[in-house]
Amino acid sequence: MGSHANQKLWFLNLFVLCYLVSFSYGRLNLNPLPRVKAVNLGGWLVTEGWIKPSLFDAIPNKDFLDGTGVQFKSVTTKKNLCAESGGGTIIVANRTAASGWETFKLWRLNQSTFRFRVFNKQFVGLDGNILVAISNTSSASSTFEIVKQSDDSNRVRIKVSNGYYLQAKTEVLVTADVSKVTGWADDDPTVFLLTISGRMQGEFQVTNGYGPLKAPGVMEEHWSTFIVEDDFKFIAQNGLNAVRIPVGWWIASHPSPPPPYVGGSLKALDNAFLWAQKYGVKIIIDLHAAPDSQNGFEHSSSRDGSQEWGKTEENIQQTVDVIEFLTARYAKSPSLYAVELINEPLSPGVTLERLSKYYKAGYEAVRRHSSKAYVVLSNRLGSIPPRELFPVASSLMGSVIDVHYYNLFQSMFDNMTVQENIDYINTNRTSQLNYVTTSNGPLTFVGEWVAEWQVQGATKEDYQRFAKAQLDVYGRASFGWAYWTLKNVNNHWSLEWMIKNGYIKL
Ligand SMILES: *[C@@H]1O[C@H](CO)[C@@H](O)[C@H](O)[C@H]1NC(C)=O
Ligand SMILES: *[C@@H]1O[C@H](CO)[C@@H](O)[C@H](O)[C@H]1NC(C)=O
Ligand SMILES: *[C@@H]1O[C@H](CO)[C@@H](O)[C@H](O)[C@H]1NC(C)=O
Ligand SMILES: *[C@@H]1O[C@H](CO)[C@@H](O)[C@H](O)[C@H]1NC(C)=O
Ligand SMILES: *[C@@H]1O[C@H](CO)[C@@H](O)[C@H](O)[C@H]1NC(C)=O
Repeated sequence: MGSHANQKLWFLNLFVLCYLVSFSYGRLNLNPLPRVKAVNLGGWLVTEGWIKPSLFDAIPNKDFLDGTGVQFKSVTTKKNLCAESGGGTIIVANRTAASGWETFKLWRLNQSTFRFRVFNKQFVGLDGNILVAISNTSSASSTFEIVKQSDDSNRVRIKVSNGYYLQAKTEVLVTADVSKVTGWADDDPTVFLLTISGRMQGEFQVTNGYGPLKAPGVMEEHWSTFIVEDDFKFIAQNGLNAVRIPVGWWIASHPSPPPPYVGGSLKALDNAFLWAQKYGVKIIIDLHAAPDSQNGFEHSSSRDGSQEWGKTEENIQQTVDVIEFLTARYAKSPSLYAVELINEPLSPGVTLERLSKYYKAGYEAVRRHSSKAYVVLSNRLGSIPPRELFPVASSLMGSVIDVHYYNLFQSMFDNMTVQENIDYINTNRTSQLNYVTTSNGPLTFVGEWVAEWQVQGATKEDYQRFAKAQLDVYGRASFGWAYWTLKNVNNHWSLEWMIKNGYIKL
């Protein structure tokens, strides 16, 4: 009797549950699902210097942008300046080799004035006249000028805003107490040899590099010429049915985003929706750059390589607001196909817990305005279980998992031959994609891939085979795929070039 009653209760519960599920998603009316064959419009509304280097050409003092890593070797100690312990204490001049602790990241205030940030994220300043890296807040740190011997020399002095030059007095004492300097001799403790160890060329760098007077004009020109109506015509005529458009969080603060960002990318996105509608192309909006950066890369508009997204409630909420703004604006467009909540959050800096929380909130924000749009959840970068988003995705109807497949960026690809690369696609990528593509799980999307590899001297036919293998395998993703990217000075990374030159045919 008892067990029978329990069974009845169980069925009743199941019935109520099904009813609730069908009720809450009953009004979902998702876009019909043709497999997406898309191209990314990378480097358009979120700057990436390697895609279009000329965008940076006219920046004054363009070697010194935000996030540039600089290293200084004293000509007297013949050793590198170093934030002892990575930061939190004094700066020393006793390291023979330069690596993380010996690298200072620039914050550019204007073309000649900078702050220095050390490995543990403190800013360089003075304690009396002794150089230290203790302050956690930029505004409490010192500002510096890097004075070069000549434009093409790596001999520099570092002048503090109080007018004094730094000197490596001894290996363990760096001070700011020299007011007069002459010449550039090898026995002068104010002279250092500069090495630039890394550069960033993202949206923060380009806008802050040009500064508030020039950046608006430069960006406007870029946005209105890099992608134009004819590109949508080309896309529609060449077997593609969608575009994935990377955008940055500042797009939602139109027309006056916080500096250094400049307004205008929203107008460009409006144009994309008009052109997409005209040529029957679908749009996947992709939040590529979230506030405070979700991965520290230039493509998420990090200022100096730091990754701070998800560490506060504020930046998560701000990101939900951006998603809500964008969905509300375009929900009525027949071209809005999907909204990707954030691109490539990096593990372990972005935890699964924070990300899942954000994905739920971002999903709800989309659904407040659209019952049609798919909601794309990007897998984290890093070594993660590929199905880690399944638990959160399972309660979100119309959700899609985005995986990015590049035969690059990992040493395992360094020495692969043409055939090994192709075998890797056919065997390993197939099994990776099969693993995340399940009959009752989320849809799957290979949101970024490219027919480029580490092979040197490959022939056109090699590239054709490599591209074909990927098209065949990624064509089995249940949501579809998107090539990275439409335009790029590096030919193989430009789908336009690959199509026009017969490397790829769809
Ligand atoms: C840069 O900023 C410093 C400090 O505010 C100022 O003294 C200097 O004139 C500025 N330089 C330029 C080129 O604007
Ligand atoms: C800077 O932050 C670190 C880590 O949160 C903390 O331990 C340190 O006390 C802070 N330093 C200052 C000067 O506030
Ligand atoms: C550099 O100087 C600091 C401070 O005296 C000391 O703790 C550290 O061990 C020294 N490192 C080397 C490589 O000499
Ligand atoms: C690739 O080949 C080079 C040269 O033979 C070798 O030094 C390197 O270790 C190899 N890399 C990998 C990941 O096998
Ligand atoms: C690719 O898959 C094959 C077959 O499962 C496996 O033997 C091989 O180790 C994998 N290759 C790499 C580079 O992971």
